[in-house]
Amino acid sequence: MSKLENIVSLCKRRGFIFQGSEVYGGMAGTWDFGPLGVALKRNIMQAWWQHFVDQRDDIFGVDAAIIMNPRTWVASGHTATFSDPLVECKACHGRFRADNLGDFTSQVTKEDLTQAGITCPTCKKNDWGDVKQFNMMFATHVGAVADDSSQAYLRPETAQGIFTNYKNIVDTIYPSLPFGLAQQGKAFRNEISPRDFIFRSREFEQMEIEYFVSPDEWEENFERLLADCHDFLENKLGLPKAMIHELDVPAEDRAHYSKRTIDIEFDYPIGRSELMGIAYRTDFDLANIARESGKSMEYRRKDTGATFIPHVIEPSFGVERLLMAVLTAAYTEDEVDGETRTVLRLPANLAPYSFCVSPLLKNKPELVAKARSVYDLLKQKYHHVTWDDSGNIGKRYRKQDEIGTPKCIVIDFDTLEDDTVTVRDRDTTKQTRVKIAEL
Ligand code: GAP
Repeated sequence: MSKLENIVSLCKRRGFIFQGSEVYGGMAGTWDFGPLGVALKRNIMQAWWQHFVDQRDDIFGVDAAIIMNPRTWVASGHTATFSDPLVECKACHGRFRADNLGDFTSQVTKEDLTQAGITCPTCKKNDWGDVKQFNMMFATHVGAVADDSSQAYLRPETAQGIFTNYKNIVDTIYPSLPFGLAQQGKAFRNEISPRDFIFRSREFEQMEIEYFVSPDEWEENFERLLADCHDFLENKLGLPKAMIHELDVPAEDRAHYSKRTIDIEFDYPIGRSELMGIAYRTDFDLANIARESGKSMEYRRKDTGATFIPHVIEPSFGVERLLMAVLTAAYTEDEVDGETRTVLRLPANLAPYSFCVSPLLKNKPELVAKARSVYDLLKQKYHHVTWDDSGNIGKRYRKQDEIGTPKCIVIDFDTLEDDTVTVRDRDTTKQTRVKIAEL
């Protein structure tokens, strides 16, 4: 099995991630998180919020509605340009994202495909229809009447929920420039070909910051935020520096709003691919909102009194891509006592459980009672504690290794005598005796 297949299999076997609507045969491009997956995902999101919001004085949180006034998407350019090139094979009527069929840009044409000898991935014929631009926003209707006037969209990015609140924040808390607004939440894109496990899906979670700056200070702020993103990835998520790469995106590949974009890529099992991006969006969004809404988006500097529309640097993270990177970096197979074991070497702050507490034997009431008291004690201090009295102790260790629990605590007969427990380390498998009071 490939490393990706191993990770997908582990995620399913241990209750991290399931195919969306699996019981009905699935729903392409959607994924459901089980108890361990949601814990890991929340720990990643919590680490991000702490790093970029709680520990700083210049970035503030918002949480906007997913369904926004459709004028939002006219102003942002999504209605006109948020599309991918779609091509149909005339022989088998399979539909594909044309730029993914080879080394093409989003402007790829039918002639390009024909000249490059690209054949249909399904039926292997070279008989393409015209390439058409396919808008990726999910449309819905709001209210009881489903006509053009009630059409709305599920947001394709969290960013616009921030931009549309910029004026509210300036009018209420009036932060000094530069300042940022951060949001975490769901985004929806009708991807033509969702693929590679959770890497490209139709419903996913974003964590975005719009950082507002004076136009002449964008470059230094871009560099500072870029360094901060690296700090987060390497020091808070524990991703190895050697697996992280920067790609300075050339003008023809940048989004319509961006004057500079750096994609941070990661060495996934599927190859080096985009993990997140940081873009200089100029005053594109605020100027468009001012035009569309007729309201001023100008900011008055507190020190000089100068008035202007701020420019924006945007670090944009996808939670599922981070989660897949964390799983890729953590997934290891090694040998213990002549047996191969699978171990998720997750950083302690991300692991679904920090500790697993077990009685050595589950049919000895005095051991179980003592273990329960240790469990309750730890549960008061740390909420990520699990209880496991299934199978034998070796099996429990294997299971906890697979789900990435850093420490297993075992209560045995010595515990009843001297109040010490065995603490077994996930990575080294070493066991030490520790007093309960010192846990
Ligand atoms: N507001 C800017 C923006 O949305 P993007 O490059 O389109 O930029 C940002 O998306 C991030 O969102 C990507 O770097 C990726 O991590 C994540 N992302 C985008 N599309 C995705 C998809 N279909 N499935 C999973 N994650 C996705």
